[in-house]
Amino acid sequence: MDTVLVDIAPVDGLDPESSVGSVFIETYGCQMNVSDSELMRRVLNDAGFSTATSPEEADVVLLNTCAIREHAEDRVIGRLGQLRHLKIRNPDLVLGVCGCMAKHMSEKLMDRLPYVDLVMGPDSYRDLADLVIQSKNEPSLSVRLDRTEHYDGVDPVRSDGVTAWITVQRGCDKFCTFCVVPYVRGRERSVRADEIVRQVEVAAEEGYRDVTLLGQTVNSYTDGACDFSELLRRVARVPGIDRVRFTSPHPSDFSERLITTVAEVDELCKFIHLPVQSGSTRVLERMQRTYTRESYLDLVDRLRDAIPNLALSTDVIVGFPGETADDFGETLDLVRHVRFDFAFMFKYSDREGTIAHREIPDTVSEAEKGIRLTSLIDLQSRISAEVNGSYVGRVLNVLVEGRARKGEGRVFGKSDGFKTVVFTSETEPNTFVPVRITSATQKTLMGEAVVAR
Ligand code: 5AD
Ligand code: SF4
Repeated sequence: MDTVLVDIAPVDGLDPESSVGSVFIETYGCQMNVSDSELMRRVLNDAGFSTATSPEEADVVLLNTCAIREHAEDRVIGRLGQLRHLKIRNPDLVLGVCGCMAKHMSEKLMDRLPYVDLVMGPDSYRDLADLVIQSKNEPSLSVRLDRTEHYDGVDPVRSDGVTAWITVQRGCDKFCTFCVVPYVRGRERSVRADEIVRQVEVAAEEGYRDVTLLGQTVNSYTDGACDFSELLRRVARVPGIDRVRFTSPHPSDFSERLITTVAEVDELCKFIHLPVQSGSTRVLERMQRTYTRESYLDLVDRLRDAIPNLALSTDVIVGFPGETADDFGETLDLVRHVRFDFAFMFKYSDREGTIAHREIPDTVSEAEKGIRLTSLIDLQSRISAEVNGSYVGRVLNVLVEGRARKGEGRVFGKSDGFKTVVFTSETEPNTFVPVRITSATQKTLMGEAVVAR
């Protein structure tokens, strides 16, 4: 999943008299964390906490963190160092670390940073308000994973934006050898389909027209009676919902039935994020990804045959232990062949607790990882620019998200294929506008609203 840093918007309507304190939540990592922060906000609001607009004015500061790469944890440690100064000025400030890094580091986090009052893993948020209050008196640690926790009935307080994030599955059972997620988020479990549809209905009533279903391997979703294809069809039928996306599917769980569903259902965006990780079967085996280069390429062919104009993106790791120059060459070759619309590309990061950390020595030097990453990014940037260039002249239906940062009177939004499109308009967010594309860069399409004559 993409990396984002989001502040949860303040919520109107709370009686300041009844507030037991104000909370500022800062979110790191993937959309799942954004979604979890929205759950946390609900739990806190229901307990009478209000929302602070900055850490400086908050009684409680919570960082919802990511552990996927060392860099993600380093950023949070750096941020905690800054926040420590607020605690020196206000000793009553409660400083909490929540989410994946809290689970990954557990006690070590408190040992290393004794000014942290609260460490809380991703399955403990129902107790968040109580633990915040408790940690005013003594440091609190709650990192137990709970394979029955689905957060049923906890309706997220949604942050700004035009997309409602809907968590449909928590945890992961795949145990890719490089990945810390199964250890910090626990075993895979699916939210009941009825509960998901209810949440989508609530989102639609709140005015959302675009929903994204979230899960670590979202297409292995099943609640026993309803599989992922059926879930997508049910969600797409909710009145008021015009667009449905999902992230991230695992290539091994992409059934023919799901391909047909994406092809057939109009509301399902013709965009799929399909993490490949490596183009070398030898490396994929060592990663325990359970597919080969050939089966991945075959899946891409079947998807493209069934879904015209499908946009595809991916995740790639370079420098996995034992990756040779030839293995990396196969990754470049796969990327050249598939021509993804865009890709998230990472240097392998050795994570304590993972199978690779225990069993596969990290053999590729930092310098070599850097060289490989740069050449992959160069290749993918060229491809993204070419793919985007091919959109010039086409008309895309754009859901407006807000004002563009640069340029007066311009707005930006997303196309069905997840392209960011910028155009001159005063259109309000959450509105669909047909836009003719006039130029393109590697990251953005520029265009003109098509005015009905
Ligand atoms: N090192 C580098 N990248 C990683 N990812 C997951 N674990 C690691 C790791 N140890 C990447 C994968 C995954 C994305 C969310 O993060 O590409 O799909
Ligand atoms: Fe991590 Fe693999 Fe699970 Fe994705 S499928 S969360 S990479 S273990």
